[in-house]
Amino acid sequence: MTVSPQRTPAPSTAAPAADALGLYVHWPFCLSKCPYCDFNSHVREWIPQDRWREALLAELRYWAAVTGRRPLGSIFFGGGTPSLMPPATVGLVIETAHSLWDAVPDIEITLEANPSSVEAGRFRDLRAAGVNRVSLGVQALDDASLRFLGRRHGASEAVAAVRLAARIFPRFSFDLIYARPGQTVAGWRRELADALGMAGEHLSVYQLTIEKGTPFYAGHARGEFALPDEDTQAALYETTQAMLEDAGLPAYEISNHARPGAECRHNLVYWTGGDYVGVGPGAHGRVTIEGIAHATEQTPLPEAWLERVERDGHGTRRRTPIDRETRIEELLMMGLRLATGIDRARFAQRASRALDDVLDPAKLQRLIDGGFLLSDETSLRATPAGLQRLNAVLAALIA
Ligand SMILES: C[S@@+](CC[C@H](N)C(=O)[O-])C[C@H]1O[C@@H](n2cnc3c(N)ncnc32)[C@H](O)[C@@H]1O
Ligand code: SF4
Repeated sequence: MTVSPQRTPAPSTAAPAADALGLYVHWPFCLSKCPYCDFNSHVREWIPQDRWREALLAELRYWAAVTGRRPLGSIFFGGGTPSLMPPATVGLVIETAHSLWDAVPDIEITLEANPSSVEAGRFRDLRAAGVNRVSLGVQALDDASLRFLGRRHGASEAVAAVRLAARIFPRFSFDLIYARPGQTVAGWRRELADALGMAGEHLSVYQLTIEKGTPFYAGHARGEFALPDEDTQAALYETTQAMLEDAGLPAYEISNHARPGAECRHNLVYWTGGDYVGVGPGAHGRVTIEGIAHATEQTPLPEAWLERVERDGHGTRRRTPIDRETRIEELLMMGLRLATGIDRARFAQRASRALDDVLDPAKLQRLIDGGFLLSDETSLRATPAGLQRLNAVLAALIA
């Protein structure tokens, strides 16, 4: 497993309701494929919507039988482009989840939306279906960058979608991608200031990563475009941290910023090593079965997933116990992404070992002396310098 300091589809100061389950629902379809994107997303001319609805509900029932009734703290519709799901399907998934698990009273129900007018037109119906938080993929606030990123929306359309979302949903967030070719610190400052002018309580800011197998990967290798050099990338990251902190949206995770208390609770489940069920093509899950943490993964290709669910009642292709060493690595990699770091008590509960018993004291001390980690009685966390080069810190700690 690799940890990217640039992005992760979601923890913080606000701990998720103790041991509440998260539910991730993957919708794998998009209207077109963005050239930088390596998510499990596909373009299809026609989607048999009735079959998709029934298959998602079947997987919910399957996983509820595995987990038993548990408190449910969050639902996250990710993609792909779940704002293209029929709102009736979204509503039925939410209703069925409520019937199978015990939803906490303030359950967080997020849906990722693309900020085009087509989708903004569905916001009221999605809200009526039970969605109480949207995360919009704005990506950039200038038209030339949006064209480069292959987006279907322009900047003004994105701004209109954010304003509409702010009126309709109790909570909203949007994503930006920085370290784009030619980007300067001065330009990024202006763009961030515009973003802050319309931001609510949460913002995700990802550094552009060139993913293998994408058109950007090939184009970058051919020299068609270049990313800003390392110093500029570092300056863009530092500018982001400083401006958002000053605006009351400090980073609670490498790429995620929120007013304290407004963190994405679903993503906190991932980062704090909690249990979550994943349904839909390629969805991953972490589920404790008979006291043992299991990694789960559903069949990735949409049509193959649908056929399997129709045949077997679920499209699980992997459901394996996680060995202790892997579990510990996962908890370290995820937990150190958080500004609040790894809570020692929670770590001991999830790993069945005390944090100090699994770390090499000499390696730990070197990272503390170097100014990359901080350790006290309650937590182990990365300093700002450590967060900026977390991959290297993790390598030095775990290797
Ligand atoms: C599942 S994706 C997108 C949701 C939605 N379909 C959209 O595009 O608006 C979640 C977010 O990951 C980020 N992302 C995806 N690929 C990326 C890449 N290669 N580099 C940086 N950020 C990326 C984008 O900001 C995106 O909004
Ligand atoms: S970035 Fe979003 S819209 Fe673009 S291909 Fe990926 S999932 Fe689809």
